[in-house]
Amino acid sequence: MRNDDVNLPIGFMDSGLGGLSVLIEAVHEMPSEDYLYYGDSANAPYGTKPQEEIKRLTYDVVRKLMDKGIKGLAVACNTATGAAVRSLREDYPELPIVGIEPAIKPAVESSRGGRIIVLATPMTIAQEKYKDLVKRFKGETDLLSVPCPGLMEFVEEGDLDSPELDQYFEKHLKPYLTADTETIVLGCTHYPFIKEHLRAYLKNDGIRIIDGSSGTARELKRRLKEKGLLKEGGHKGKITMENSDPGKEMLERGRILLERFL
Ligand code: DGL
Repeated sequence: MRNDDVNLPIGFMDSGLGGLSVLIEAVHEMPSEDYLYYGDSANAPYGTKPQEEIKRLTYDVVRKLMDKGIKGLAVACNTATGAAVRSLREDYPELPIVGIEPAIKPAVESSRGGRIIVLATPMTIAQEKYKDLVKRFKGETDLLSVPCPGLMEFVEEGDLDSPELDQYFEKHLKPYLTADTETIVLGCTHYPFIKEHLRAYLKNDGIRIIDGSSGTARELKRRLKEKGLLKEGGHKGKITMENSDPGKEMLERGRILLERFL
């Protein structure tokens, strides 16, 4: 299947619904494009699985997208990016590929010297790619990586706002919050969907909450443009969603997220 046709959709993949937060930014950047989004909810979560398994699952999804025909790929999952993006670029050298990673660089660059907390899946934090990122940008900053097993599940289940979420933050985040905490980096693409709830939980507008989705969308646009594959102007594009979960429920939840956040 050729992938240099400007009329093909852009492929997006994630372990489930989280990558829709990146897709939303991409639609804002490139409204004329068509998108093919694949959520691997049947195999979620990725973030508590071994690296080799995450890589294999990611490749399975990418092959499905390639078979359908895509002109570019967004690995809209921090965990999958860490496990597979380097080798995907080697195996698909013609395809523009971007992978999201935790927004540590912008957090450190705008730091006023306070604490930066990165929330991500246990596997994202354990991966070499993440450790390299921290090493490159951390400098003297007080940067703390907090693994959040079980947090993406709230979003997969459509729970963006519940007392159980507060209990989760009490247990997994509160112990690390200090008076000088200045930024929380959402290092998993599911988390932006619970950003409003986190904001309410924190009761502190002084803490910035950031993620890598808009930077990733801009980078995707840049890469497509570079290859002459960017559609400019024209009609509004369409979004097609697929999910490995055999029921209709995940697709319906995805549709609700798009309706609410796009
Ligand atoms: N959305 C994914 C990420 O950005 C991972 C969630 C998971 O499957 O554990 O890391």
